[in-house]
Amino acid sequence: MSEQQQSGGEVAAPYGTGPARPAAGPVKRVRTHHLRQMKERGERFTMLTAYDMYTAAAFDEAGIEVLLVGDSASNNVYGNETSLPITVDELLPLTRAVARSVTRAMVVGDLPFGSYQASPEQGYLTAARFMKEAGAHCVKLEGGAEMTPVIERCTRGGIPVMAHIGFTPQSEHTLGGYRVQGRGAAAERVLADARAVQDAGAFSVVMEMVPADVAAQVTKELDIPTIGIGAGPGCDGQVLVWQDAFGLRTGRMATFVKQYADVHGVLLDAARAFAADVRGGTFPGPEHSF
Ligand code: KIV
Repeated sequence: MSEQQQSGGEVAAPYGTGPARPAAGPVKRVRTHHLRQMKERGERFTMLTAYDMYTAAAFDEAGIEVLLVGDSASNNVYGNETSLPITVDELLPLTRAVARSVTRAMVVGDLPFGSYQASPEQGYLTAARFMKEAGAHCVKLEGGAEMTPVIERCTRGGIPVMAHIGFTPQSEHTLGGYRVQGRGAAAERVLADARAVQDAGAFSVVMEMVPADVAAQVTKELDIPTIGIGAGPGCDGQVLVWQDAFGLRTGRMATFVKQYADVHGVLLDAARAFAADVRGGTFPGPEHSF
């Protein structure tokens, strides 16, 4: 038994006490103009989804520039089949947890379906909640030319907007399911949407499931940074949903997902080892007992 255990002195906190901060010097927050400068220098940047404290802190420590608290939390946290059911009230606490846990990354609040499409005023008020109540540094919303009044209203009101064009999951029922957008003659629509969101004041634009050559053309034409997901290597940045990329989710993945880890396998092994120890009477041992 350790001296601390014997003496009855202060013990280590039993549960999490917040993310352990890397002992670095002053950290410079990633801001919208930094992404623009990276584009101008031809440097690619990274974005991952994050929905909680420890993943956010780890991705921040790894140098991921942008963390998106995506409405994909609907599927990846809340167990829904699509991103449609998640509400503002469900997404705000996750956004707050992520924003509190990073020192450098830009945190993007994702506006849920139905929380901004009704009017620019509705969009502004929802976006303001993500900034005020959750500490997001900017918001993302889905849609191209048709969303420009909302983008203009938010930008005018001091809220930076990341647009999202191409395949927009909140419109999957309108788009007829998960389909690549912008093939053939439809490429013009993607280009027009990209120009429209830039002109409306968006500081960046996500392009999802767009042919690589179209996304590269958009990236070349726009002054604002583009972020691809299933949009080929020609974008200024790339984003993936972390549960897909790091293997927490299992099953069929979209073609554009590269798997970098098997977190599901690690958790399975750890849970099985814990169960075996408890059932075999080897945990807790004397070193874990007071
Ligand atoms: O919510 C999300 O995870 C997203 C990404 C797919 C870009 O919007």
